[in-house]
Amino acid sequence: MAVQPIRLFGDPVLRTPAAPVETFDKELRRLVRDLTETMIDAPGAGLAAPQIGVSLRVFTYWVDDEPGHLVNPDLDLSDELQIGDEGCLSLPDLAFETPRSLRVVAKGMNMHGEPVVIEGSDLLARAVQHETDHLDGILFIDRLDPEARKEAMRMIRASEWFGEATPTIQASPHAISSRWL
Ligand code: NI
Repeated sequence: MAVQPIRLFGDPVLRTPAAPVETFDKELRRLVRDLTETMIDAPGAGLAAPQIGVSLRVFTYWVDDEPGHLVNPDLDLSDELQIGDEGCLSLPDLAFETPRSLRVVAKGMNMHGEPVVIEGSDLLARAVQHETDHLDGILFIDRLDPEARKEAMRMIRASEWFGEATPTIQASPHAISSRWL
């Protein structure tokens, strides 16, 4: 197993825009495997490389029992929106209604450097947007209206995990939900 510790809010890597992947080598394939195993172990519906401390534009997703990954994503978003609860493995125990585009077409590469297109709606579209945000140093709480964001920050500051030197918490035990991204 190559399950990695998940970085938590407060870790600067989560606010750092990730670099495009240029080399499709064994290291990249190992990164995709680590991300997939860590995501499934959490469990989560998606995981971005910065969340395990790697500042590269790679994420995995796990929706409808089908794990997948995307390298160097480029998104085309629908104008039509969806509203639903969203959470993040880097912000344990927090979930807020977060607006997202209903549908997404994501172009990128697979780990072998071959072009791929992921088309999805609902949770898959939400996961792809959430993970691509991670690659830009954006967290879902940034997508909330100011009032909800303030409430989220209050909950973060009050949480047990916030400010821990060593991130040990991966997800709460009751987080067996597909909304953790
Ligand atoms: Ni997340």
